[in-house]
Amino acid sequence: MLVLGIETSCDETSVALVEDNAIVENLVYSQIETHRVFGGVVPEIAAREHLKRLPILFLELIQKTNVKLEDVDGIAVTKGPGLIGALLVGVSFAKGLALRYGKPLVGVNHIEGHIFANYLAYPELKPPFIVLMVSGGHTLILKVETTEEFTIIGRSVDDAVGEAFDKIARLLGLGYPGGPEIDKVAKLGNPQAFQFPRPKFHDDDYDFSFSGLKTAVLYEIQRLRKGRLSDTDKLPQEIVADLAASAQEAMIDVLVHKVTKAARDHGIEKIVIAGGVAANSRLRERLKETAGFEFFLPPLELCSDNAAMIARVGVELLKKGHSDDLKLEPEPNFFE
Ligand code: KG4
Ligand code: ZN
Repeated sequence: MLVLGIETSCDETSVALVEDNAIVENLVYSQIETHRVFGGVVPEIAAREHLKRLPILFLELIQKTNVKLEDVDGIAVTKGPGLIGALLVGVSFAKGLALRYGKPLVGVNHIEGHIFANYLAYPELKPPFIVLMVSGGHTLILKVETTEEFTIIGRSVDDAVGEAFDKIARLLGLGYPGGPEIDKVAKLGNPQAFQFPRPKFHDDDYDFSFSGLKTAVLYEIQRLRKGRLSDTDKLPQEIVADLAASAQEAMIDVLVHKVTKAARDHGIEKIVIAGGVAANSRLRERLKETAGFEFFLPPLELCSDNAAMIARVGVELLKKGHSDDLKLEPEPNFFE
């Protein structure tokens, strides 16, 4: 079964063709350069960029693969969760194609897409497994029981971990996105230099909280500045490195603890780490040191937002006879 996938839930515009469990082509346009000057994703600008980029990317996909829309078996599009304006662009585009070519249309849960990306990356992977989804938009622990069932068993009660990386980087005067910047400078710092809080570490659940850490870093910077630096002076490089390393360590301590606790409590050995933060080198190092589990770290192009994962869910749904009509609407708060 050949499915066209469309993903526009946040700041990646993506189209893909997937045949059963194989990627024919997966094109991703990242809007990061557009949002960089604002220090974060601006929803209205994201929607406008999707509107501009999606038709171009779609034509590129058709030219590159030589696949005719007449030959696809269906069209899968992200319906949520995500930014409403951004989702609307993808859903409207998909509806237009479905109507023009008379193809079945299916709306896909973006989170389920992230789970299915792992079947593309690891064809041998079978449930049950635990997923730690760590990106700029989500911090979730999912229990995947079968290919049809998953449960969100943990989530951040405030900021997503990628968001925390980005906000802390900004406090430290580093660039956007902050995750890769912190990852880089933290290598030069001492992760024990500052004892930052590990919120919810000892709670008997699988939830996270990261907004307090950002505040703790802010207070530490204010304390360090007091009497020594003016508000506009740059923090010394060694201090920035120590603050970055210590804040990163605090976040990773909680992530590793909670995801292994979730796996242990549910008697599951396989753990998948997905989302942009999965690229973090210290997180990867810490997982290597953690015994008793089998960790799966999909390649970055499959664990950050992409349309191949959406098309892959589409294959599953369409094979089971599910489809949506042209009344399909985006569901920005759609989770399970
Ligand atoms: O999944 P993703 O590419 O996109 C969305 O969130 O939609 O994740 C982006 C997030 C950003 O917050 C970025 O700072 C973070 O992932 N990130 C990292 C690293 N690379 C990207 N965080 C920590 N360490 C990294 N090496
Ligand atoms: Zn995502």
